[in-house]
Amino acid sequence: MALVKIREVLDGCHENEKVTVRGWVYRKREGKTLIFLLVRDATGFIQCTVKKDSPAWGDAERLTIESSLKLEGTAKPDKRAPGGYEITAESIEVIGLAELFPITKDQSEQFIRDLRHLWLRSRRMNLVMKIRDKVMQFSRDFFESQDFTEVSPPMFISAAVEGGSTLFGLKYFDQNLYLTQSSQLYLEILIYSLEKVYCIAPSFRAEKSRTIRHLTEYWHMEGEWPFADMNDLMRFEEELMAHICQQTAEKCKPELEELGVDVSKLASVKTPFPRMTYAEAVELLRKKGATLKWGDDLGYEDEKTLAEEFGKPFFVYDYPTAIKAFYCKTHSDRPEIALSVDMLVPRIGEISTGGAREDDKDKLIKRIEEMGLKAEDYEWYLDLRRYGTVPHVGFGMGLERLLAWMLDLENIIDAIPFPRTTRRFYP
Ligand code: 4AD
Ligand code: MG
Repeated sequence: MALVKIREVLDGCHENEKVTVRGWVYRKREGKTLIFLLVRDATGFIQCTVKKDSPAWGDAERLTIESSLKLEGTAKPDKRAPGGYEITAESIEVIGLAELFPITKDQSEQFIRDLRHLWLRSRRMNLVMKIRDKVMQFSRDFFESQDFTEVSPPMFISAAVEGGSTLFGLKYFDQNLYLTQSSQLYLEILIYSLEKVYCIAPSFRAEKSRTIRHLTEYWHMEGEWPFADMNDLMRFEEELMAHICQQTAEKCKPELEELGVDVSKLASVKTPFPRMTYAEAVELLRKKGATLKWGDDLGYEDEKTLAEEFGKPFFVYDYPTAIKAFYCKTHSDRPEIALSVDMLVPRIGEISTGGAREDDKDKLIKRIEEMGLKAEDYEWYLDLRRYGTVPHVGFGMGLERLLAWMLDLENIIDAIPFPRTTRRFYP
């Protein structure tokens, strides 16, 4: 008897054949002469019926929700069954009989979030995790198609990238180190050998903000390459984004539909993306009643207001130098404006930041000191400007923010299996 995945049965590959499936009991309904089991595996759900005169009856009776089992029977088309197929069970092997499962229907979000290790079995989380896997794959495919090399940066670091206020410090034997906030500086090292490099790796932020878009540990997709300018950067980012969205729309259609996501939102992400300068953004926001002025950082509310204008991904570039990190290159004739760009999307706001990096050693030292940092902490970074410096650009995109937008997730914590926030670190 063929051991099959539930998906194959639902796809009609085994009509009227005897099959064996392995999985878990998702739902159970008991009648006097018939027991309905909804069995799930990684690929889907199937209704299985057990008749009173079947040798499987006794085992079906004692099965509890989330028990694991092996079930043999005949796969038949049945219009009344969810998915259009059911299995008439002939035998059941109970593998692990479950205790009373704590997650039942109609439970609060809070309760479910505290039982993350069990909630991950839900259909919703199963679908999100599958799409997450694909999005990582489509991202890699795109980088590789553009001759990028994937590299593995360190997580323990000795100096800040994105400012001290969100640094996690830790004891490293008898030294004080930090968890990385971004792999950018390490990618910058590697461009001198490999030129186009990227990574998809964790980044850590001691971020106290409790919002729908902040995690303390998130997955960061970062790219860096030499001999390129802001135009190359924006073009690359929009092509990457369009590739990810279109591939997801095409290859994950059933999963998206089951999650209730409008597939056309993703299919319609096409290049070129609208671009506006920071100064234009400020002007637009002021017209709409905001009180911010040139020089202020855009807040979450500002970003959402801007995003409503476009209703799709777009760029804001040319931010004031003063609100950007020490490594940002500036316009040669306007040092107050940084060669920096953010990609924004509706509801979430910023999903990526990138820019040109200061490649002049003396200007870089000046910037480091102006920001109150110590140049000696960045000796190796300055070496990159001493030995064969080169104009280069790069960016970082938060994978969970991207997914939260793509999948209309209410909160970023559902884009990652084990979210870490100020309050959440269990399990
Ligand atoms: O804007 P950020 O801080 O930029 C950098 O780290 C650059 N060094 C990246 C680079 O140029 N290589 O972070 C980049 C992106 C943000 O746009 C956002 O999508 C995500 O990382 N991000 C977070 N995602 C979830 N939770 C947080 N606390 C995040 N902080 C940043
Ligand atoms: Mg940013």
